[in-house]
Amino acid sequence: MCGRYLVNFNSSELPQQQTEVLVIGGGIAGLYTAWRAVQAGLKVTLLTKRTVLDTNTDRAQGGIAAALSETDSPELHCQDTILAGAGLCDAAAVKTLVHEGPARVQELIDMGANFDYYGNQLAMTKEGAHSKRRILYQGDTTGTEIMRTLMERVTKQGAATILEQHFVVDLLVQDELCRGVLVFDEGTGGYRIFWAQAVVLATGGAGRIYNYTTNPEVATGDGIAIAYRAGAEVMDMEFVQFHPTTLVLPEAPRFLISEAVRGEGALLRNSQGEQFMPSYHGMAELAPRDIVARAILSEMAKTKQDFVYLDLTHLPGNKIKERFPTITKTCLKYGLDITLDLIPVAPAAHYMMGGVKTNSNGETTIPGLYACGENACLAVHGANRLASNSLLDGLVYGKRIVAATQQNIQQRAITKSSFVNENLLESKDCLVALRSELKWIMGENVGPLRTSQRLSQALAFFDRQEWLEKHRVRNSQEMELRNMLAVGRLIAETALMRTESRGGHFRLDYPETISRWQKHIILKR
Ligand code: SIN
Repeated sequence: MCGRYLVNFNSSELPQQQTEVLVIGGGIAGLYTAWRAVQAGLKVTLLTKRTVLDTNTDRAQGGIAAALSETDSPELHCQDTILAGAGLCDAAAVKTLVHEGPARVQELIDMGANFDYYGNQLAMTKEGAHSKRRILYQGDTTGTEIMRTLMERVTKQGAATILEQHFVVDLLVQDELCRGVLVFDEGTGGYRIFWAQAVVLATGGAGRIYNYTTNPEVATGDGIAIAYRAGAEVMDMEFVQFHPTTLVLPEAPRFLISEAVRGEGALLRNSQGEQFMPSYHGMAELAPRDIVARAILSEMAKTKQDFVYLDLTHLPGNKIKERFPTITKTCLKYGLDITLDLIPVAPAAHYMMGGVKTNSNGETTIPGLYACGENACLAVHGANRLASNSLLDGLVYGKRIVAATQQNIQQRAITKSSFVNENLLESKDCLVALRSELKWIMGENVGPLRTSQRLSQALAFFDRQEWLEKHRVRNSQEMELRNMLAVGRLIAETALMRTESRGGHFRLDYPETISRWQKHIILKR
């Protein structure tokens, strides 16, 4: 169950603003879409619930994949993406990604993004399941460099209006058209309406619904939850990617140790010092991410340890420090010299393959509502995303959204309809503990290894929270919590439905991949 709105409101009593394109989210997908829309001469407003620096993009270490080298081709990139996607990639969507991707990356370079060079050639690294070195990077801070580049453009001479600390509570949909959004302005503590001809969801992922994740605090699945409440279809929600290698130290957060580290030759060893990946997959340390994550979990179980080790000690120390400065510095902060010490690592929630269902122009099932980046789902990543395809996805489909909105906007005038909701009750309960409980329930029961029994336990937890639907939220923390509960429930529900194992979804009670399950689960409120 899921209520329609989170608060009581009457649009006619609230301050109102209007724009042509309203982008929600400030990561690569949001910023790039905003920039493209500005280029197309559209009036753009970008809302972000914290600051524009609080994004998953900013944390991206590995890089951005594109077939730009002479020995590579979009066809090879397509093959690798489809193979990693475990039978659920939409072939046309992947073709678009890999064929349009190189031009989008070149655009970033032309804008001034400083990727690393090897001599006078762009340096390229390799990550899991790639048959070629095709990942462009800047050290281990590629996302930060892309954010810097895009921010410079989007903020240039007030190109787009960026409003931070603006939390989008719900979408305003009438007569099957998305007309705008209801926003909570943290600065004033009040609500506002934004009317728009096109609303673009680019809110990123939902890793924070898990106890262990690489994602920042902001990744609470907001875009998926508000779209679902408004009646949009969501797809492939059971597919959550767990990154195999995140730092495991009692005093440290689950910091990402990039797959590019294995791309440069690092090995995985169990606590007895044995390299184990060759016995799980022919590509060893560079097997698809879901396979490496499960192999690590299996070794952890065998050796009764909470981690395995990542070993870089055989690689040239100076080169490693230069190539991965942030990883080096972060590990050093916790007393680990990665050139001498083994790094304890374990999988953690990293990326949502599922999300708001879109077509190849980023259009959702609600006209006027678009989605791109991690909160969208066009099955371009299938059941398991190929490493470093996510930043590319934000660029390619961001551009396509702007092309589509340009056409639609001409036919669609802004209509300031009236929206009223007044049936929600006041709540006096303290909900702080519920956030932690949710994360543990998800980690224990809806993690990388699932069973009918564990998933049913998770669903029983969600059933117990249904009373909340009748109550209004009191602040943005509760808004986030309600979004997290909605997304968590969607993942648990679809994971229980899918009685097979495929890509990021592994059922201990249904370990085989079954051909009749080569299809998508689509849910609608
Ligand atoms: C990494 O650097 O390992 C993460 C890259 C990605 O998620 O594609």
